Amino acid sequence: MKLAVIGGAGLLGSTTAFYAGTKDIFDEIKLVDIKENVLKSHVMDMDQGLSSICKTKVFEADYSGINDCNIILITASMPETKVSSRDDYLKLNLKIVENICSQIKNVINPNTIIINASNPVDPLNLYMFKMLKIKREKIIGFNLNDTVRFKYFISEVTKKDILSVDAYCLGEHGETKVPIFSQIKCNNEEMKLSNAQKEIINLKMINWFKEYQSLDSKRTAGWTSAIGLTKILNAITNNTKEVIPCSAVLKGEYGISDVSLGIPAKISNEGIDEIIEIEISENEKKLLQKSSSKIKEMVKSII
Ligand SMILES: NC(=O)c1ccc[n+]([C@@H]2O[C@H](COP(=O)([O-])OP(=O)(O)OC[C@H]3O[C@@H](n4cnc5c(N)ncnc54)[C@H](O)[C@@H]3O)[C@@H](O)[C@H]2O)c1
Repeated sequence: MKLAVIGGAGLLGSTTAFYAGTKDIFDEIKLVDIKENVLKSHVMDMDQGLSSICKTKVFEADYSGINDCNIILITASMPETKVSSRDDYLKLNLKIVENICSQIKNVINPNTIIINASNPVDPLNLYMFKMLKIKREKIIGFNLNDTVRFKYFISEVTKKDILSVDAYCLGEHGETKVPIFSQIKCNNEEMKLSNAQKEIINLKMINWFKEYQSLDSKRTAGWTSAIGLTKILNAITNNTKEVIPCSAVLKGEYGISDVSLGIPAKISNEGIDEIIEIEISENEKKLLQKSSSKIKEMVKSII
Protein backbone atom coordinates (compact mmCIF):
# COMPACT_ATOMS: atom_id res chain seq x y z
CA MET A 1 0.00 0.00 0.00
CA LYS A 2 1.24 3.47 -0.86
CA LEU A 3 0.14 6.82 0.53
CA ALA A 4 0.64 10.25 -1.02
CA VAL A 5 0.32 13.35 1.15
CA ILE A 6 -0.21 16.63 -0.69
CA GLY A 7 0.78 19.37 1.73
CA GLY A 8 3.30 16.96 3.27
CA ALA A 9 5.65 19.70 4.48
CA GLY A 10 2.90 21.30 6.59
CA LEU A 11 1.81 20.45 10.11
CA LEU A 12 -1.07 18.07 9.36
CA GLY A 13 0.69 16.42 6.44
CA SER A 14 3.94 15.79 8.31
CA THR A 15 2.43 14.73 11.64
CA THR A 16 0.09 12.32 9.85
CA ALA A 17 2.82 10.90 7.61
CA PHE A 18 4.97 10.33 10.68
CA TYR A 19 2.26 8.83 12.90
CA ALA A 20 0.87 6.61 10.10
CA GLY A 21 4.49 5.70 9.29
CA THR A 22 5.05 4.39 12.83
CA LYS A 23 2.09 2.00 12.36
CA ASP A 24 3.87 0.13 9.54
CA ILE A 25 0.73 0.04 7.38
CA PHE A 26 2.37 1.48 4.23
CA ASP A 27 5.24 0.31 2.05
CA GLU A 28 5.78 3.86 0.88
CA ILE A 29 4.69 7.35 1.90
CA LYS A 30 5.25 10.05 -0.73
CA LEU A 31 5.20 13.68 0.32
CA VAL A 32 4.30 16.48 -2.12
CA ASP A 33 4.54 20.19 -1.27
CA ILE A 34 5.50 23.49 -2.82
CA LYS A 35 7.98 24.26 -0.01
CA GLU A 36 10.85 22.25 -1.43
CA ASN A 37 13.47 22.77 1.30
CA VAL A 38 11.05 22.04 4.16
CA LEU A 39 9.78 18.99 2.27
CA LYS A 40 13.30 17.65 1.76
CA SER A 41 14.14 18.10 5.45
CA HIS A 42 10.97 16.22 6.50
CA VAL A 43 11.80 13.37 4.12
CA MET A 44 15.41 13.04 5.31
CA ASP A 45 14.41 13.18 8.97
CA MET A 46 11.30 10.97 8.75
CA ASP A 47 12.76 8.28 6.51
CA GLN A 48 15.81 7.87 8.74
CA GLY A 49 13.73 7.92 11.92
CA LEU A 50 11.18 5.37 10.68
CA SER A 51 13.88 3.07 9.27
CA SER A 52 14.75 1.98 12.82
CA ILE A 53 11.20 0.89 13.70
CA CYS A 54 9.39 -0.18 10.52
CA LYS A 55 9.58 -0.99 6.81
CA THR A 56 7.79 2.17 5.56
CA LYS A 57 9.95 4.27 3.23
CA VAL A 58 9.35 8.01 2.90
CA PHE A 59 9.98 9.85 -0.39
CA GLU A 60 9.68 13.34 -1.82
CA ALA A 61 7.49 13.28 -4.94
CA ASP A 62 5.86 15.38 -7.61
CA TYR A 63 2.46 14.59 -9.11
CA SER A 64 3.80 12.23 -11.75
CA GLY A 65 5.44 10.21 -8.97
CA ILE A 66 2.24 9.47 -7.06
CA ASN A 67 0.35 7.61 -9.80
CA ASP A 68 0.93 4.30 -7.98
CA CYS A 69 -0.49 5.53 -4.65
CA ASN A 70 -3.62 3.80 -3.34
CA ILE A 71 -4.56 6.73 -1.10
CA ILE A 72 -4.07 10.46 -1.62
CA LEU A 73 -4.36 12.61 1.51
CA ILE A 74 -4.84 16.32 0.89
CA THR A 75 -3.72 18.72 3.60
CA ALA A 76 -2.41 21.49 1.33
CA SER A 77 -3.58 24.88 2.39
CA MET A 78 -2.96 28.57 2.92
CA PRO A 79 -1.64 29.19 6.43
CA GLU A 80 -4.51 29.17 8.92
CA THR A 81 -3.67 32.62 10.28
CA LYS A 82 -6.02 35.52 10.76
CA VAL A 83 -9.14 33.54 9.89
CA SER A 84 -11.93 34.02 12.39
CA SER A 85 -13.90 31.08 11.06
CA ARG A 86 -13.24 28.13 8.75
CA ASP A 87 -15.67 29.73 6.26
CA ASP A 88 -13.16 32.53 5.53
CA TYR A 89 -10.88 29.87 4.26
CA LEU A 90 -13.07 28.78 1.37
CA LYS A 91 -11.98 31.39 -1.16
CA LEU A 92 -8.35 31.17 -0.03
CA ASN A 93 -8.12 27.40 -0.29
CA LEU A 94 -10.32 26.92 -3.35
CA LYS A 95 -7.50 28.04 -5.67
CA ILE A 96 -5.13 25.51 -4.10
CA VAL A 97 -7.68 22.70 -4.31
CA GLU A 98 -8.52 23.64 -7.92
CA ASN A 99 -4.85 23.33 -8.80
CA ILE A 100 -4.50 20.00 -6.96
CA CYS A 101 -7.58 18.57 -8.71
CA SER A 102 -6.19 19.49 -12.12
CA GLN A 103 -2.94 17.69 -11.23
CA ILE A 104 -4.30 14.55 -9.58
CA LYS A 105 -6.96 14.03 -12.26
CA ASN A 106 -4.12 12.66 -14.39
CA VAL A 107 -2.74 10.26 -11.79
CA ILE A 108 -5.75 8.72 -10.06
CA ASN A 109 -7.56 5.53 -11.13
CA PRO A 110 -11.08 4.33 -10.18
CA ASN A 111 -9.71 2.61 -7.06
CA THR A 112 -7.78 5.58 -5.66
CA ILE A 113 -9.15 6.79 -2.33
CA ILE A 114 -8.94 10.53 -1.64
CA ILE A 115 -9.00 11.86 1.91
CA ASN A 116 -9.47 15.60 2.24
CA ALA A 117 -8.54 17.39 5.44
CA SER A 118 -8.17 20.92 4.05
CA ASN A 119 -10.68 23.40 5.41
CA PRO A 120 -13.48 24.10 5.02
CA VAL A 121 -13.69 20.34 4.63
CA ASP A 122 -17.34 19.88 3.60
CA PRO A 123 -17.65 22.28 0.63
CA LEU A 124 -14.15 21.41 -0.59
CA ASN A 125 -14.96 17.70 -0.35
CA LEU A 126 -18.02 18.13 -2.59
CA TYR A 127 -15.99 20.31 -4.94
CA MET A 128 -13.34 17.58 -5.32
CA PHE A 129 -16.01 14.89 -5.78
CA LYS A 130 -17.51 16.88 -8.66
CA MET A 131 -14.26 18.04 -10.25
CA LEU A 132 -12.57 14.63 -10.12
CA LYS A 133 -15.76 12.81 -11.22
CA ILE A 134 -15.08 9.95 -8.83
CA LYS A 135 -17.46 7.62 -7.01
CA ARG A 136 -18.68 9.06 -3.71
CA GLU A 137 -17.25 6.01 -1.91
CA LYS A 138 -13.79 7.19 -2.87
CA ILE A 139 -13.80 10.59 -1.18
CA ILE A 140 -13.58 10.94 2.58
CA GLY A 141 -13.64 14.34 4.30
CA PHE A 142 -11.89 14.48 7.66
CA ASN A 143 -14.03 15.76 10.53
CA LEU A 144 -13.28 13.20 13.24
CA ASN A 145 -11.81 15.85 15.58
CA ASP A 146 -15.33 17.14 16.33
CA THR A 147 -16.35 13.72 17.65
CA VAL A 148 -13.08 13.35 19.57
CA ARG A 149 -13.68 16.71 21.27
CA PHE A 150 -17.33 15.83 21.99
CA LYS A 151 -16.26 12.61 23.72
CA TYR A 152 -13.47 14.50 25.52
CA PHE A 153 -15.90 17.06 26.94
CA ILE A 154 -18.48 14.38 27.86
CA SER A 155 -15.75 12.55 29.77
CA GLU A 156 -14.59 15.78 31.43
CA VAL A 157 -18.08 16.76 32.58
CA THR A 158 -19.34 13.28 33.61
CA LYS A 159 -15.95 12.04 34.94
CA LYS A 160 -16.42 8.83 32.92
CA ASP A 161 -13.38 7.19 31.33
CA ILE A 162 -13.19 8.63 27.79
CA LEU A 163 -12.39 5.20 26.36
CA SER A 164 -15.75 3.90 27.62
CA VAL A 165 -17.71 6.77 25.98
CA ASP A 166 -19.29 6.42 22.53
CA ALA A 167 -20.79 9.45 20.81
CA TYR A 168 -20.91 11.27 17.50
CA CYS A 169 -20.70 14.86 16.38
CA LEU A 170 -22.26 15.11 12.91
CA GLY A 171 -22.97 17.83 10.34
CA GLU A 172 -20.64 20.58 9.25
CA HIS A 173 -16.99 20.62 10.33
CA GLY A 174 -17.61 24.18 11.43
CA GLU A 175 -20.03 26.36 13.32
CA THR A 176 -23.21 24.35 12.63
CA LYS A 177 -21.82 21.00 13.79
CA VAL A 178 -24.37 18.83 15.60
CA PRO A 179 -23.31 16.99 18.77
CA ILE A 180 -25.70 14.03 19.01
CA PHE A 181 -26.76 14.09 22.67
CA SER A 182 -29.56 11.56 22.10
CA GLN A 183 -27.14 8.72 21.30
CA ILE A 184 -24.41 8.87 23.93
CA LYS A 185 -23.29 5.52 25.30
CA CYS A 186 -21.01 4.54 28.14
CA ASN A 187 -19.74 0.93 28.16
CA ASN A 188 -22.31 0.25 25.41
CA GLU A 189 -25.22 1.38 27.60
CA GLU A 190 -27.29 4.49 26.99
CA MET A 191 -25.97 7.46 28.97
CA LYS A 192 -28.39 10.25 29.89
CA LEU A 193 -27.00 13.67 30.70
CA SER A 194 -28.73 16.40 32.70
CA ASN A 195 -29.69 19.61 30.89
CA ALA A 196 -26.99 21.44 32.84
CA GLN A 197 -24.34 18.94 31.70
CA LYS A 198 -25.54 19.22 28.09
CA GLU A 199 -25.34 23.00 28.27
CA ILE A 200 -21.74 22.95 29.54
CA ILE A 201 -20.68 20.46 26.87
CA ASN A 202 -22.46 22.43 24.14
CA LEU A 203 -20.69 25.63 25.18
CA LYS A 204 -17.32 23.87 25.17
CA MET A 205 -18.07 22.55 21.67
CA ILE A 206 -19.12 26.00 20.43
CA ASN A 207 -16.17 27.84 21.97
CA TRP A 208 -13.35 25.42 21.21
CA PHE A 209 -12.33 26.85 17.81
CA LYS A 210 -12.50 30.51 18.93
CA GLU A 211 -10.48 29.74 22.04
CA TYR A 212 -7.86 27.85 20.02
CA GLN A 213 -7.64 30.64 17.44
CA SER A 214 -7.30 33.28 20.16
CA LEU A 215 -3.97 31.70 21.17
CA ASP A 216 -2.61 32.98 17.85
CA SER A 217 -0.19 30.05 17.82
CA LYS A 218 -0.31 29.82 14.01
CA ARG A 219 -0.61 26.06 14.27
CA THR A 220 -3.67 23.86 13.75
CA ALA A 221 -4.61 20.76 15.74
CA GLY A 222 -1.84 18.69 14.19
CA TRP A 223 -1.63 16.01 16.85
CA THR A 224 -5.35 15.27 17.17
CA SER A 225 -5.64 15.22 13.38
CA ALA A 226 -2.64 12.92 12.90
CA ILE A 227 -4.21 10.39 15.26
CA GLY A 228 -7.64 10.68 13.61
CA LEU A 229 -6.34 10.53 10.05
CA THR A 230 -4.22 7.50 10.94
CA LYS A 231 -7.34 5.81 12.32
CA ILE A 232 -8.97 6.25 8.90
CA LEU A 233 -5.80 5.17 7.04
CA ASN A 234 -5.60 2.05 9.21
CA ALA A 235 -9.28 1.23 8.57
CA ILE A 236 -8.57 1.39 4.82
CA THR A 237 -5.28 -0.51 4.76
CA ASN A 238 -6.51 -3.22 7.16
CA ASN A 239 -10.06 -3.26 5.77
CA THR A 240 -11.47 -3.02 9.31
CA LYS A 241 -14.95 -1.68 8.36
CA GLU A 242 -14.79 0.36 11.53
CA VAL A 243 -17.52 2.99 11.91
CA ILE A 244 -15.78 6.36 11.87
CA PRO A 245 -17.48 9.73 11.42
CA CYS A 246 -16.38 11.54 8.27
CA SER A 247 -17.69 14.03 5.75
CA ALA A 248 -19.36 12.01 2.98
CA VAL A 249 -21.36 12.92 -0.10
CA LEU A 250 -24.99 12.10 0.72
CA LYS A 251 -27.67 10.76 -1.61
CA GLY A 252 -30.77 10.83 0.54
CA GLU A 253 -29.29 9.53 3.80
CA TYR A 254 -30.70 11.47 6.76
CA GLY A 255 -33.07 13.04 4.19
CA ILE A 256 -30.14 15.01 2.73
CA SER A 257 -28.70 14.99 -0.80
CA ASP A 258 -26.02 16.68 -2.92
CA VAL A 259 -23.89 17.82 -0.04
CA SER A 260 -20.91 16.44 1.85
CA LEU A 261 -21.28 16.54 5.61
CA GLY A 262 -20.35 14.61 8.73
CA ILE A 263 -22.07 11.27 9.24
CA PRO A 264 -20.90 7.92 10.65
CA ALA A 265 -19.53 5.57 7.97
CA LYS A 266 -17.98 2.12 7.75
CA ILE A 267 -14.49 2.55 6.35
CA SER A 268 -12.95 -0.32 4.39
CA ASN A 269 -10.34 -0.89 1.68
CA GLU A 270 -12.97 0.39 -0.78
CA GLY A 271 -13.18 3.75 1.03
CA ILE A 272 -16.65 4.53 2.38
CA ASP A 273 -18.13 1.04 2.60
CA GLU A 274 -21.49 2.06 4.03
CA ILE A 275 -23.09 5.20 5.40
CA ILE A 276 -24.64 4.43 8.78
CA GLU A 277 -27.95 6.07 9.62
CA ILE A 278 -28.17 6.21 13.40
CA GLU A 279 -31.39 7.15 15.13
CA ILE A 280 -31.33 10.82 16.09
CA SER A 281 -33.93 13.07 17.74
CA GLU A 282 -36.31 15.31 15.77
CA ASN A 283 -34.42 18.38 16.94
CA GLU A 284 -31.09 16.88 15.88
CA LYS A 285 -32.60 16.10 12.45
CA LYS A 286 -33.58 19.78 12.14
CA LEU A 287 -30.08 20.89 13.16
CA LEU A 288 -28.55 18.53 10.60
CA GLN A 289 -30.81 20.03 7.89
CA LYS A 290 -29.72 23.50 8.97
CA SER A 291 -26.09 22.44 8.80
CA SER A 292 -26.67 20.99 5.32
CA SER A 293 -28.31 24.25 4.14
CA LYS A 294 -25.34 26.25 5.37
CA ILE A 295 -22.86 24.04 3.51
CA LYS A 296 -25.05 24.22 0.37
CA GLU A 297 -24.87 28.03 0.55
CA MET A 298 -21.08 27.85 0.74
CA VAL A 299 -20.97 25.42 -2.19
CA LYS A 300 -23.14 27.78 -4.30
CA SER A 301 -20.32 30.32 -4.22
CA ILE A 302 -17.79 27.89 -5.67
CA ILE A 303 -19.54 25.49 -8.08
N1 LIG B 1 -10.29 18.68 9.04
C1 LIG B 1 -9.74 18.92 10.20
O1 LIG B 1 -10.17 18.47 11.26
C2 LIG B 1 -8.52 19.79 10.25
C3 LIG B 1 -7.75 19.89 11.41
C4 LIG B 1 -6.63 20.72 11.39
C5 LIG B 1 -6.31 21.43 10.24
N2 LIG B 1 -7.10 21.29 9.15
C6 LIG B 1 -6.82 21.98 7.90
O2 LIG B 1 -5.76 21.32 7.23
C7 LIG B 1 -5.10 22.24 6.39
C8 LIG B 1 -3.60 22.15 6.66
O3 LIG B 1 -3.32 22.60 7.96
P1 LIG B 1 -1.80 22.69 8.44
O4 LIG B 1 -1.81 23.13 9.84
O5 LIG B 1 -1.07 21.48 8.06
O6 LIG B 1 -1.27 23.93 7.53
P2 LIG B 1 0.23 24.23 7.13
O7 LIG B 1 0.25 25.65 6.71
O8 LIG B 1 1.15 23.80 8.21
O9 LIG B 1 0.48 23.27 5.86
C9 LIG B 1 -0.09 23.46 4.63
C10 LIG B 1 0.93 23.02 3.58
O10 LIG B 1 0.31 23.05 2.30
C11 LIG B 1 1.33 23.44 1.39
N3 LIG B 1 0.74 23.89 0.14
C12 LIG B 1 0.11 25.06 -0.14
N4 LIG B 1 -0.29 25.09 -1.41
C13 LIG B 1 0.10 23.91 -1.96
C14 LIG B 1 -0.04 23.34 -3.25
N5 LIG B 1 -0.65 24.00 -4.26
N6 LIG B 1 0.47 22.12 -3.47
C15 LIG B 1 1.08 21.42 -2.48
N7 LIG B 1 1.24 21.92 -1.23
C16 LIG B 1 0.76 23.15 -0.98
C17 LIG B 1 2.09 24.53 2.13
O11 LIG B 1 3.38 24.74 1.55
C18 LIG B 1 2.17 23.91 3.53
O12 LIG B 1 3.34 23.14 3.71
C19 LIG B 1 -5.72 23.60 6.70
O13 LIG B 1 -6.70 23.88 5.74
C20 LIG B 1 -6.35 23.42 8.05
O14 LIG B 1 -7.41 24.29 8.30
C21 LIG B 1 -8.19 20.49 9.12
